[in-house]
Amino acid sequence: MLTVRAPGRVNLIGDHTDYQDGFCLPLALDREVVVRAVPRADGRVVARSDATEGIVDVPAGGVATPSSVTPGWGRSVAAVLGLLAQAGRDPIGFDAEVTSTVPVGSGLSSSAAFAVAVAIAAAEIAGFEIAPRSVALLAQAAEHAATGVPCGVMDQMASVFGRAGHALLLDCRSLEVETVPIPESAAIAVVHTGVARRLEDSAYAQRRSACEAAAARAGVAALRDATLADVGNDPFARHVVSENERVAAFVDALRAGDLDRCGGLMRASHASLRDDFQVSTRELDALVEAFARAGAYGARLTGAGFGGCVVALVDAGAVDTIVGSAVARYGSTTGMTPIPLVVHAVDGAGRVDERDH
Ligand code: GLA
Repeated sequence: MLTVRAPGRVNLIGDHTDYQDGFCLPLALDREVVVRAVPRADGRVVARSDATEGIVDVPAGGVATPSSVTPGWGRSVAAVLGLLAQAGRDPIGFDAEVTSTVPVGSGLSSSAAFAVAVAIAAAEIAGFEIAPRSVALLAQAAEHAATGVPCGVMDQMASVFGRAGHALLLDCRSLEVETVPIPESAAIAVVHTGVARRLEDSAYAQRRSACEAAAARAGVAALRDATLADVGNDPFARHVVSENERVAAFVDALRAGDLDRCGGLMRASHASLRDDFQVSTRELDALVEAFARAGAYGARLTGAGFGGCVVALVDAGAVDTIVGSAVARYGSTTGMTPIPLVVHAVDGAGRVDERDH
């Protein structure tokens, strides 16, 4: 039996920058997808999951249109297998049992973690060597093929390159990863607003094309290359350009242990995602406000927005009090049921066992 784990991620700052070749600062979190796989002789991949219904049964070389596979969670399996086959993996079948502690539909990248785990398990079981960066790119391409959502590469890179106790400064153009230690005095809380989010239904793709159009108007390859002066009054582009600057400032502040400054940058990031990029919701705003009142250094929506989670930076010595108070205030002002998690940065995806011959 082969066992592979792949963590979800939370992004501290730098949202809607990855698909414009920009910068972001996610960490791999201690919630993960685990795939246990054993080879089978008939060239099929048969998967069951504790997180969702139905049995996936697809050819080990993938299918022509992964987006039409049923049950729906098999689309990403089929897409990963097809891309691996194109890359030269032999179509060796396997049985897979999937378990997950990454909440689904919350913006913590359960689907990226799943695709990364399946890709590594499928590669390992066929003795196919694939570099970590290629795993991330392949899992991103699989997401495009399976769901049609034109996501960037942040989630898959975070799941693959996570490092315990560290955030990851990702350069989404060069795909370089710099690890940045998270000070011990800081705790990271993630709270789900109680409003589910599906990127297929959201304006994610529209925002991405608006950014591409803005880059073309500014005469740059991607908004990473633009200045605020280049983008004028375009609020979407202004968000991306200013967010890249906030990521750099946040990394400097985190390295200097200046958590107040980090918090201020998180609040500015949330305001920019709300007012310029227009991907916040009433609930996300209320939760960010509740964290401000509860004494967090800062909080912001994390990931794509349109529902999902808020990430907060808080004093490690007061984390329970601050999260408890923010959650109570949010619950009473919105009537929603928030789900709080205190998270820790963990190592990225990989095998967790030795192959059992
Ligand atoms: C989703 C996408 C990422 C990224 C974020 C926003 O999580 O999958 O690629 O674009 O939204 O930062």
